Amino acid sequence: MDVVANRACQSPKVSVIGAGNVGRTLAQRIAERNLADVVLVDIVSGLPEGIALDLTEARGLEGHQRQILGGTDYTATAGSEVVVITAGLPRRPGMSRDDLLKTNATIVAEASRQAIAHSPQALLVVVTNPLDAMTYVAWQASGLPPKRVMGMAGILDSARFQTFIALELGISPTDVRAMVLGSHGDLMVPLPRYSTVNGIPIPELMDEGTIDRLVKRTRNGGAEIVELMQTGGAYYAPASSTCLMVETILLNQPRLLPIAAYLEGQYGLTDLFIGVPAYLDSQGVNKILELNLSPAETAALHGSAKAVRQTLEQALALL
Ligand code: LAC
Repeated sequence: MDVVANRACQSPKVSVIGAGNVGRTLAQRIAERNLADVVLVDIVSGLPEGIALDLTEARGLEGHQRQILGGTDYTATAGSEVVVITAGLPRRPGMSRDDLLKTNATIVAEASRQAIAHSPQALLVVVTNPLDAMTYVAWQASGLPPKRVMGMAGILDSARFQTFIALELGISPTDVRAMVLGSHGDLMVPLPRYSTVNGIPIPELMDEGTIDRLVKRTRNGGAEIVELMQTGGAYYAPASSTCLMVETILLNQPRLLPIAAYLEGQYGLTDLFIGVPAYLDSQGVNKILELNLSPAETAALHGSAKAVRQTLEQALALL
């Protein structure tokens, strides 16, 4: 066996279900960062094959060794270390929230079932919206232990908060660490007290009105981009955020990250997935950190959880 083929055999494998903008950008990031071989799956025949071929043709130019395959069936996904579910529809004109919820819940449940049937050892990362409810649906459909299922949103929301803090202060975002909890939606809970510039909490660096403005912009972060683009939503930062989780898992570099994780009593919440700080490594979500929240922060998190539960109950009833 030659060296390249041998390396390809040993490469970890990540399957990305859904070849829309987030899925295809994630496939590109994973391959070009040399993290893993990627299998891109979509129900539209030709689309994942075409994207995989295009990414493969860039391989010599980008100088990475990873294989990218595309297809409509799950056979090639077998043995994946990580499965990422990005499949689902964005809301279209005339489509009710219920229609969208039912469609995406059906897609996410089916994709999770099929992908995990082929890769029972995998960790499952969900990106499809409405994120927190879809992560629960994926968990139920997959039959995996809850620690091996998680949703990506807190990293994205925190990256947006980080960006707006850095822009406000006119400094590099690399000096800014931000923390956003709760659901991925209007009721997310950015935590200024736990957001710092090289360890200095931002309430020491800007006034309350400024922080409120940045918090609002963070909550509206996804919608701001949809409004600008008109034709769809964000995908570069969502793909980067998901890639960070994939990298953490594959390299087994334990990180403490905001992740939609399964709660069993933490923060007074039980039996739902919602964004919380969690320890992630190659085994999955090992532990949830319970921050000492103020009464107002706790109330905001519980409000966020209530909205997630309502959406989830609707989704489960529609399935
Ligand atoms: C956003 C979508 C990806 O927040 O949920 O941009």
